[in-house]
Amino acid sequence: MCDFIRKHGHANIGFATGSTPLGVYKYLIESYQKGKVSFQNIQAFNLDEYVGLKPGHPRSFASAMKKDLFSHIDIRLESIHVLDGSQQDMDQECQRYESLIKNNPIDIQILGIGMDGHIAYNEPGSPLDGMCHVVDLHQESIESSLDYGFDNIQDVPRQGVTQGIGTIMKAHQLIMMAKGQKKAKLVEKMIYGEVTSDFPSSVIQNHDHVLVCLDQGAASQLKEEDYERY
Ligand code: GLP
Repeated sequence: MCDFIRKHGHANIGFATGSTPLGVYKYLIESYQKGKVSFQNIQAFNLDEYVGLKPGHPRSFASAMKKDLFSHIDIRLESIHVLDGSQQDMDQECQRYESLIKNNPIDIQILGIGMDGHIAYNEPGSPLDGMCHVVDLHQESIESSLDYGFDNIQDVPRQGVTQGIGTIMKAHQLIMMAKGQKKAKLVEKMIYGEVTSDFPSSVIQNHDHVLVCLDQGAASQLKEEDYERY
């Protein structure tokens, strides 16, 4: 990512929340602090958000990205783009975000995998060519949200708003990250399984430029010969 920014002078980058990319964000902050990279000319696009939370809400994904990355680097405030889950007309908000991305194609998109195989908040059953949309969160996603600072499950919003799988697949480069043994079976299915909307992350098999970054736990179900390949 740093190489790309240095080479091109600018970049449109899609950022994922969740625990997995935190090490990457720490690395980006350190690289900035050491003067190795500047984010002044990047445009940032968040992947997804909770419906019903204002971007400034402490549990919103917008706040999480600010806390974990944006407030520590020299990105311009006006270059941070988020889906606003507090808008009255969410269809209009989704259209706004979709055309913003259409006009500013994403160069590098960071992705994680949810415990039901979702990417961003595209839950199982989401169309593989879908655009930004509102989604009813599945139980696994609601429960996983307890890791993101909600005190109890009643406080977790029941809907999310997300870039669609079609939106994500238009990014030039995908970086899919997974960490820990609990993701091993999901990673195996994502890489070897059928490409199906029932398991949304499997769609990355159809992308021409995808880098899969795994730790040992998450990679433990891969066939041995694939360790090197992935
Ligand atoms: C969350 C987010 C995704 C994220 C994924 C994995 O619910 N909606 O954007 O990539 O699930 O999260 P984690 O990295 O915490 O496992």
